Amino acid sequence: MGDRVQGKAIIVTGAGSIGPGMGNGKASSILYAREGGRILLVDQSLEAAQETCRLIQAEGGTGVPFACDVTSSADCLRMVEACLAAFGRVDVLHNNVGVTFPGGPVELAEEQWDRLMRINVKSMFLTCKHTLPHMEQQGRGVIVNIASINAIRSLPAIAIAYAASKAAVIALTREVAVQYAAKGIRANAILPGLMDTPMVIAQLTGAYGGDVEEMLRRRARLCPTGKQGDAWDTAHAALFLASDEAKYINGTTLVVDGGLTSIVG
Ligand SMILES: NC(=O)c1ccc[n+]([C@@H]2O[C@H](COP(=O)([O-])OP(=O)(O)OC[C@H]3O[C@@H](n4cnc5c(N)ncnc54)[C@H](O)[C@@H]3O)[C@@H](O)[C@H]2O)c1
Repeated sequence: MGDRVQGKAIIVTGAGSIGPGMGNGKASSILYAREGGRILLVDQSLEAAQETCRLIQAEGGTGVPFACDVTSSADCLRMVEACLAAFGRVDVLHNNVGVTFPGGPVELAEEQWDRLMRINVKSMFLTCKHTLPHMEQQGRGVIVNIASINAIRSLPAIAIAYAASKAAVIALTREVAVQYAAKGIRANAILPGLMDTPMVIAQLTGAYGGDVEEMLRRRARLCPTGKQGDAWDTAHAALFLASDEAKYINGTTLVVDGGLTSIVG
């Protein structure tokens, strides 16, 4: 247990995990709590949020599970109110929710494009809309948005809506960062690379013909380290950005990819 975000009230969206094991939102929530944060564990699946909460409480940390669909403005408002009710303030907003659907413009259905944009981009607009007035009132706050290296590089499994949505996340983050800098609020985006998480297994296997092991091998081979990253790599980057150690870091992107984007292919 440390104190890098001691006493901070932290909202993590997508704090559960879509499958067994450790997702980015789950690991980040646990790490924040280990470092003294008080976490509102937001997920559309209350069970998933409760599972993360159990892990946090088993270590003596503080977490409150909260069911919420971040594509709903009313739910996002309730989410902020729940954080204020539980902890009296909101210091960090960690926007982790994101999904991917494989395919280019021809393969991807229009409805899937719209759905993905709602989940990956509109959700962050809504959570910021309802959180920023409170951070402004406090005179401080931090936003950590989870984007992807797919925002800046093409990946073998083409996912056009996902890539476009994550580029939008970077732009959204930059605009908030500049608009609110003088008010003591920072916003940064993390760009994870190829990470071995339940989301990848659940959502990307189809793009590799349904063979999970082959997909994991191929993703690992692409990485200069010879292996994928994991949820804790994303979590440690988030912890740094959320902490006061990063007090002069604003409007930027932090790539967490083991060097993958440094390769000229
Ligand atoms: N794994 C990777 O390789 C990788 C790489 C780059 C970026 N990312 C990003 O990491 C994030 C996902 O992280 P994760 O590992 O925690 O994913 P995950 O899918 O395991 O967990 C996300 C949680 O979000 C919840 N959720 C989904 N839609 C929601 C909604 N509308 N409202 C509230 N909750 C909702 C799910 O119930 C789930 O528990 C995404 O933004 C993703 O794009 C992942």
